[in-house]
Amino acid sequence: MTIKVCLAGATGWAGSALAKAIHAADDMELVGGVSRTHAGRALGEVLPDVENILILQATAAEALKTPCDVFVEYTQPAVALQNILLALEAGAHVVVGTSGLTDEDYRTINQAATSKGLGVLAAGNFAMTAVLLQKFAEMAARYIPHCEIIDYAGAGKADVPSGTVRELAQRLGRVRKSMLDVPLEAIQGPVETRGARLNETQVHAVRLPGYVLSAEVIFGLPDQKLILRHEAGASAEPYVAGALLAIRKVNSFTGLRRGLDAVMDMQ
Ligand SMILES: NC(=O)c1ccc[n+]([C@@H]2O[C@H](COP(=O)([O-])OP(=O)(O)OC[C@H]3O[C@@H](n4cnc5c(N)ncnc54)[C@H](OP(=O)(O)O)[C@@H]3O)[C@@H](O)[C@H]2O)c1
Repeated sequence: MTIKVCLAGATGWAGSALAKAIHAADDMELVGGVSRTHAGRALGEVLPDVENILILQATAAEALKTPCDVFVEYTQPAVALQNILLALEAGAHVVVGTSGLTDEDYRTINQAATSKGLGVLAAGNFAMTAVLLQKFAEMAARYIPHCEIIDYAGAGKADVPSGTVRELAQRLGRVRKSMLDVPLEAIQGPVETRGARLNETQVHAVRLPGYVLSAEVIFGLPDQKLILRHEAGASAEPYVAGALLAIRKVNSFTGLRRGLDAVMDMQ
């Protein structure tokens, strides 16, 4: 059966790589695409190596007038929640690649998806090495009470921390509170230098030219450390296979699931 896909952000850095892969996949058909800049143009005009006559729309609401099985959100946090809710309202399962949504947004999404009997799969990072980082870090947190997360990205990345690190902090928080020998209220000096406490874990964000996207968790025990680090290069290629898997699997459950491993056999 062919999966009909609508892709919001089809001309973006991550979305265009995914658009090409969906176009090339035998079991998928791109029936909708969203981009404000290129609205009214065919996808194939914007992405020259894709022979696709799909006309891009300026909004998700316009694109969703064509029925789809799966809506993929790959735009920006300011419009992501609204797009996702519109897609659920239209009866589509949703794959969320956009980062920067809050826990409150995800509660709203879960409620909407559950009441509609649809699935939403949200992954801050579809790359295999990032998925493994999340799993290995959860495992380490069961044994090591002290850990801190460092989020590295280019100077222009506005959302803080990255979706990858938000998800990582949330997962580690479910395992345990990271231990602080000096409580934050007893810190001498600017408390911000200790990072932000997110889901009961300390998170530090670095934004500098020269970085693309990396996430690191440092676990500390007396006289020993474990450092787990995922590093992505400059292309959007690492995210494509995971996003395709999410599109194929998102109809297999109801409500919100977070992290690609939710649909992978990885226990
Ligand atoms: N989960 C993952 O594995 C993963 C991987 C990479 C990136 N991301 C996340 O995915 C999101 C997109 O990243 P990116 O680097 O691809 O960004 P990007 O290059 O800026 O692309 C954004 C895309 O969304 C469209 N868009 C933006 N705002 C819109 C709006 N208000 N209405 C309609 N279309 C809109 C843009 O087209 P127009 O500007 O022409 O409208 C463009 O096609 C970010 O949140 C990023 O952190 C996640």
